[in-house]
Amino acid sequence: MTRIDKHAVEVRGLVKTFGDTKALDGVDLDVREGTVLGVLGPNGAGKTTLVRCLSTLIVPDAGHAVVAGCDVVRQPRQLRRRIGLTGQYASVDEKLSGRENLYMIGRLLDLSRKDARVRADELLERFSLTEAAKRPAAQYSGGMRRRLDLAASMIGRPAVLYLDEPTTGLDPRTRGEVWDEVRRMVAEGATVLLTTQYMEEAEQLADELTVIDRGRVIAGGTVEELKSTVGGRTLVIRPGDPAHLPAMVRAVTEAGLDGVGGVQAVPDEGRLHVPILTDEQLTSVVALLAGRGFAIAHIATHLPSLDEVFLAVTGGRTTPAAPAAGGTIPEEVAA
Ligand SMILES: Nc1ncnc2c1ncn2[C@@H]1O[C@H](COP(=O)(O)OP(=O)(O)OP(=O)(O)O)[C@@H](O)[C@H]1O
Ligand SMILES: [Mg+2]
Repeated sequence: MTRIDKHAVEVRGLVKTFGDTKALDGVDLDVREGTVLGVLGPNGAGKTTLVRCLSTLIVPDAGHAVVAGCDVVRQPRQLRRRIGLTGQYASVDEKLSGRENLYMIGRLLDLSRKDARVRADELLERFSLTEAAKRPAAQYSGGMRRRLDLAASMIGRPAVLYLDEPTTGLDPRTRGEVWDEVRRMVAEGATVLLTTQYMEEAEQLADELTVIDRGRVIAGGTVEELKSTVGGRTLVIRPGDPAHLPAMVRAVTEAGLDGVGGVQAVPDEGRLHVPILTDEQLTSVVALLAGRGFAIAHIATHLPSLDEVFLAVTGGRTTPAAPAAGGTIPEEVAA
């Protein structure tokens, strides 16, 4: 795999204080060009403050950030031409129609009348808003507003896009549509900084993740790396004969293998779940069962879900609002 190591976003020691609140307390992060960085954090972690600093809406108290080659403090005007922002709260003008909203932004970005019209229609089409294009945004559903907002952030073909919790409050289908659009933008070369409280969203879209809490980066890496910091995996074994499940649980439990505990049968799925830390434990569990004459039909290992990673790295202080789906581990084990 070739890694592009050119950074579209570089942040060093960013600090922003509001009164007594240190919203950002020395944040460092990089986003490689053409990739998605997911910034995960609970309410009040500093995600929106970070996005606002990086989009020139507020000025940081200390630190340094370069986005698309522009210093966020010293070159705000140049930077604004290279970025797009979908804020946490929809920013469409209620009285204007979808088309008028997009046209107006195009004009604000110095597109000619014709170019602004063409670009507006192109984006309306792409976000399935053509039919609703003439209706005032006030009549749009939450999902339609979000799509209009996303379209608006893309008018100037930004090199770097900030998406601040782009799917909060959306139904699963609309969330999927937004994800598809984000993937498309990235495929076309955009770099995305995405904040989210949804583990599933991060897993779906992000190449790398940064976890922030109380204005500080507390963990980072690829999804796989983050998961592995939590330690354990789950060894999932499907016996050849489901009737053997209880006997297999007993065999593993009674064997008292080093570091292996909490073995569970999941009868509904006809599987055995064994929490493990090492490959040696995996081998010894399988060897034990095979040695006792149990037929094994299938073996897999699962890394922990991002929810569990999050709880582990934040010390369980705050629980992010997680959607129902998302984990890779069956509930029986996560519980
Ligand atoms: N304009 C402001 N004035 C005072 N305090 C602020 C301001 N903006 C943010 N804060 C505080 O800074 C901290 C970080 O807020 P921020 O909005 O960046 O968090 P967040 O991670 O985006 O949270 P959420 O998930 O709820 O959107 C919070 O304690 C918040 O109350
Ligand atoms: Mg926020």
